[in-house]
Amino acid sequence: MTNEKNILQDSHGRDHGYLRISLIERCNLRCTYCMPEEGVQLSPKSHLMTYEEIYEIAKTFVNHGVTKIRLTGGEPLIRKDIPVILEKLATLPVELSITSNAVIIDKFIDILKANGVKKINVSLDSLDAAKFKHITRRHEFEKVYNNILLLEKEGFTVKVNAVLMKGFNENEIIDFIHFTKDLPISVRFIEFMPFDGNKWDMSKMVSYAEIMNYVNTSFTKDQIVRLQDAPNDTSKNYKIEGYKGSFAIISSVTNPFCDSCNRLRLTANGQLKNCLFSSTESDLLTTLRTGNTIEPVIQKAVQAKFKIRGGMDTLEKLQQPKLHNNNRSMITIGG
Ligand code: GTP
Ligand code: 5AD
Ligand code: SF4
Repeated sequence: MTNEKNILQDSHGRDHGYLRISLIERCNLRCTYCMPEEGVQLSPKSHLMTYEEIYEIAKTFVNHGVTKIRLTGGEPLIRKDIPVILEKLATLPVELSITSNAVIIDKFIDILKANGVKKINVSLDSLDAAKFKHITRRHEFEKVYNNILLLEKEGFTVKVNAVLMKGFNENEIIDFIHFTKDLPISVRFIEFMPFDGNKWDMSKMVSYAEIMNYVNTSFTKDQIVRLQDAPNDTSKNYKIEGYKGSFAIISSVTNPFCDSCNRLRLTANGQLKNCLFSSTESDLLTTLRTGNTIEPVIQKAVQAKFKIRGGMDTLEKLQQPKLHNNNRSMITIGG
């Protein structure tokens, strides 16, 4: 039976007001933790949502209670029709935001502003150009760094996402926190998560507890302020007393925040994922293209959502490689 009223509430009582839309499966960087070395099988163009289809599907979600849409990729800004996608989505009553690697974002300042985008999350895993090159396999550090400064100067609310890897960038935690001294941005340290083809191994991950150990050895108790988290935040937020910015930890592995999950994901080829770690998907695009209503498909998908991490509710389950391969590569999910 279809409950027309609240199709975005799952069987655990969670309401889903946040839709993440991946616009493209390609990226102008090649981050090792995100994209398998051998690349990914790209969907044929005809299987990708057009901007009209993105708008139609988004509108349906908004009609049922979505109030926040985040555009992701791959890298969303390399999609050619990004201006028209932004323009169409800006007509909906939602908070529109974007997660980008910021390599080319300086070309989009006006269009982002014109379409009401105020919050931008930027991926940056190192403040060291050589390490940046190593992890992204591209020489774009200067552009990304300067673009973060530019975004802040232009008045955007900026969060920097840094995926921490053992022995690689964990020694930069304090440098990243110092980066927030004079810059009112939030740096979020992310526990490395497992996806298809990213050679995840628990021992490569830097945990919430380990991050806080670094923080506690560099700052005194009085300097470290625990901030109030927003209701559906993915992060635990902190700041250093007197610093303009803040820092946070996204602890999907050691401290999942699924209880307050309000997120659904639409992939570039029109599949609805009810969780970042879902092993099943629901084909909204084919449903739309065959002239059928997508609501029943959405409702069924939302009802099937697991309580925690797509069913990988324990660390033991999260550590089974065969379960990671039931999911996509991160590049085609969009985070
Ligand atoms: P805000 O809207 O600013 O809170 O951003 P966000 O955290 O929702 O999105 P962003 O694209 O910046 O993602 C940052 C990190 O959080 C990425 O590593 C995502 O994979 C992770 N993340 C985002 N949403 C979820 C989620 O629903 N579950 C889990 N486990 N991780 C998530
Ligand atoms: N684990 C954790 N975060 C990841 N991201 C990409 N791959 C992973 C992973 N394996 C992050 C990127 C980006 C965000 C959308 O997802 O850093 O900022
Ligand atoms: Fe939501 Fe799944 Fe992320 Fe948990 S792992 S917060 S259920 S998307």
